[in-house]
Parts: sequence; structure tokens; C-alpha cells
Amino acid sequence: MKYRHAFHAGNFADVHKHVALLALLRALQRKDKGIFFLDTHAGRGRYALDSGDARTSGEAQRGVVVLLAMLREARAELAPELHDYATVIEAWRRRADARHDYPGSAVIAAEVLRPQDRGVAVEIQPGEFEALRKTLGRDARVTAEHGDGWQRLRALLPPAERRGLVVIDPPYEDTAGDFRAAEEAVRGAIERFETGVIALWYPIKDARDTDRWLGKLARGLTRPTIAAELWVHPPDSRAGLNGSGLVIVNPPFRFAERCDTWQPALAHALGAQGGGGARTIPLVGESR
Ligand SMILES: C[S@@+](CC[C@H](N)C(=O)[O-])C[C@H]1O[C@@H](n2cnc3c(N)ncnc32)[C@H](O)[C@@H]1O
Repeated sequence: MKYRHAFHAGNFADVHKHVALLALLRALQRKDKGIFFLDTHAGRGRYALDSGDARTSGEAQRGVVVLLAMLREARAELAPELHDYATVIEAWRRRADARHDYPGSAVIAAEVLRPQDRGVAVEIQPGEFEALRKTLGRDARVTAEHGDGWQRLRALLPPAERRGLVVIDPPYEDTAGDFRAAEEAVRGAIERFETGVIALWYPIKDARDTDRWLGKLARGLTRPTIAAELWVHPPDSRAGLNGSGLVIVNPPFRFAERCDTWQPALAHALGAQGGGGARTIPLVGESR
């Protein structure tokens, strides 16, 4: 596998995904009862933005760096979800003495899980896994596991807690293969964990392709499901990655409505006016 998330750490798609992840965890934490968090493709957990791959790509400059500047300069103008995200990142940077780093999904979750919550983060590449284990540390609420996220998903569900969030974030290096595996994983996850919230990230290159895939995925699901999308280039441009999408099964109450507020605000903040935008679409059932 050649995929190295460090190139993309903190880019617009990471911001989109991580704002949603945090908002989903916060929604589940409205109740005191403990929750289970599963990150099937966790990455290394911590990415230096001022050196190496991230510095070469410059992607974070058009992603998280913009949000953090907005937090510092104009707190009141940020939608609550964007404010929460930027605040959690800043707090982690201070606490972990990581002023120029970006936290991955497992680390963001570990920041906000409560004593009664539990998390597992799975990573397959040995080097990435070692880095993740070290970053999470021994006391973290999220345990790092070296293994295959597709398999661990089947083994770990349903969790004893019966409430929780499963995040599926494959690299799509083998694009067709990962789209197929992701579709199967979502169906398998909901069969085992019917009440769980499942969030699957997908890249938007040509929206006609992803729309077809979303339609096919939806036909195999019976639980309420939405797709939340943000794009920074026109959805059929040849820029490469035009947009970021999330399929969310069992979205929390009013989650879609909230996405309709923070996603356009994020698109605007990231300078996506020319051909960029956002949408939240119901795929299955009553989601609003
Ligand atoms: C998009 S990155 C993850 C980013 C991370 N979720 C975040 O938001 O910070 C995908 C990761 O999945 C890992 N990976 C690829 N195939 C895997 C598999 N079958 N099981 C677990 N991890 C896998 C890759 O090594 C890579 O680190």
C-alpha cells in the first residue's frame, strides 16, 4: 500500500469529516450512558503540518489552518460545530505540545470521550499503527489495534454498550474495491448493530459516479440514512478530489438540519464560492 494520509492531513476533506465526527459524538453524548466508538481505518493519529508530506502538499493551508485562524480572529461568527472543532484542535495542540500538528480521527475522539465511553482504532500499516499507539498512549480512552478494519468491524459489533459511532474511512487507493468493501461494511455493520450510528467517508471526484453509488447503497439499507457533502471544486471538474462526502446511517435527531447550517458555512470559509458548495440529502427514510 502506497497511501500516506500525511499528504492530506488537515485538508478540506479532513475538516469536513472531523467536524461531522465530533458533532456525532457530541450528539451521542447527550445521554449519560457510555458509548462505543470504532475507527476502522484510523491512520497514525498525529500529523506534522510544518514538515514532510503535509508541508509538501500544502493541503492543510486550505483546510484546518483557515478554520483555526477564524477561531482566533472572529469566534462569534463560526457555526457552533465549526467552533467546537477548532476549539478541540487548539486544546489538543496545547495539551500535547503539538503546535504545528494535526490530530487524526482517533485522537479527536480520544479528546472528547468521557470516562464511561470506550473506543477502538484499527490501522493496518505497521508504521502507522506504531505511531498511532504511541500518540494515543496507555491511558487513552481509545485503544489502538493493529489489524484489518474490515475484519475487526465484524468482530467488534455489536458492542456491549449498544450505543455508539462507527467511522469507516478507507483510503480508496483501489477505488472500485474500496467503494465495494465500504458498501458491504455499512450493510454488515447495521445488521450487527442496528441502532448504531455509522459514518462512511467517500471521495467525490465526479458526482455522477458517487450519486449512482449512493443510490445503489441506499437500496440495500432500511435504517434512516443521509448523505452529507461538501465540495470545493465543481462536482465534475478535473481537479482530482472535488468534494468530501459522508454517508450517515441512523443520524441523530436534527443532524441533517444542522449539516445544512455548518456545511455551507464551511464551504464559504474554505473559499469554495466558485463552483463549491454543500448539500445534505436523505437517502433512506425520515432523517430530518
Ligand atoms: C484516510 S486514512 C485514515 C485517516 C483517519 N481516519 C483520519 O481521519 O484521521 C486511511 C488509513 O487506512 C489504513 N488502511 C488501509 N487499509 C486498511 C485496512 N484494511 N484496515 C485498517 N486500516 C487500513 C491506511 O493505512 C490509512 O492509514
